Amino acid sequence: MILTVGGEKGGVGKSTLAIHIAYMLARHGRDPLLIDADPQGSTTNFTAARDERDVAPRLACVQKLGKGLAHDVRSLAGRYSDVVIDTGGRDTVELRLAMLVSERVLVPINCSAFNWWTLEKVDQLAGEAKLANPDLRTSVLLNRAPGNPQLRRRKVATANERLAAAAFSNLDVLSCFLVERTAFQDNEEFGLTVWEPSVLRGTVDPMACDELANLYQEMFAHEFAIGPSALKPAPSP
Ligand SMILES: Nc1ncnc2c1ncn2[C@@H]1O[C@H](COP(=O)(O)OP(=O)(O)OP(=O)(O)O)[C@@H](O)[C@H]1O
Ligand SMILES: [Mg+2]
Repeated sequence: MILTVGGEKGGVGKSTLAIHIAYMLARHGRDPLLIDADPQGSTTNFTAARDERDVAPRLACVQKLGKGLAHDVRSLAGRYSDVVIDTGGRDTVELRLAMLVSERVLVPINCSAFNWWTLEKVDQLAGEAKLANPDLRTSVLLNRAPGNPQLRRRKVATANERLAAAAFSNLDVLSCFLVERTAFQDNEEFGLTVWEPSVLRGTVDPMACDELANLYQEMFAHEFAIGPSALKPAPSP
């Protein structure tokens, strides 16, 4: 499976999701490669911090930028079970090339108009990519929904209404969503996912884990066999 995490909006959780999806694939016994296709280097920095702590599973990551990306992805794909490409939050040559060689694209957005307005452009990009890559599936994921349950219900319902009304030709919307969970930010500095106990608090946020497991289930249940216990939080060190 070649999966791109991308879109037209910065800071919505693309790198975070690319990393956590690669982690979940690895925890299911697969052998994923992360490709950092953003010069900002978040995924590269995260995996370097992880390597420094020597945490298992190791997440293999290479940075690939520019016009050679499609060729590089195709040649690396044969050596790994899955390739997860993290692109920047703009229309870049890397995003366009990644869409040409991917089977899936995941587009995280936050629950506000400035976010869903960017999807018109993403829909257009996905349509263009499908001319050469007709089986491409591009899915929108709501991320960082408010922690307050009442506000969350309202924001998620409104976002879903707007997305349904937009009736995009080339995008579908995942039914799961992710909530704002501090664990993501606490752990990233140390190269740790939310499945691993926070260095600061020593605990794991089970809700962040459950929400990610729902994402994994919705995205991959039809692709791979998913073991029921594969995604228990990692034990404390
Ligand atoms: N569900 C979440 N809950 C809390 N924080 C989150 C969540 N998802 C992402 N974040 C945080 O938001 C910040 C931005 O995330 P990230 O860098 O993954 O976004 P990005 O879309 O890759 O940004 P860029 O466009 O700059 O590449 C990070 O500090 C990350 O920890
Ligand atoms: Mg990023």
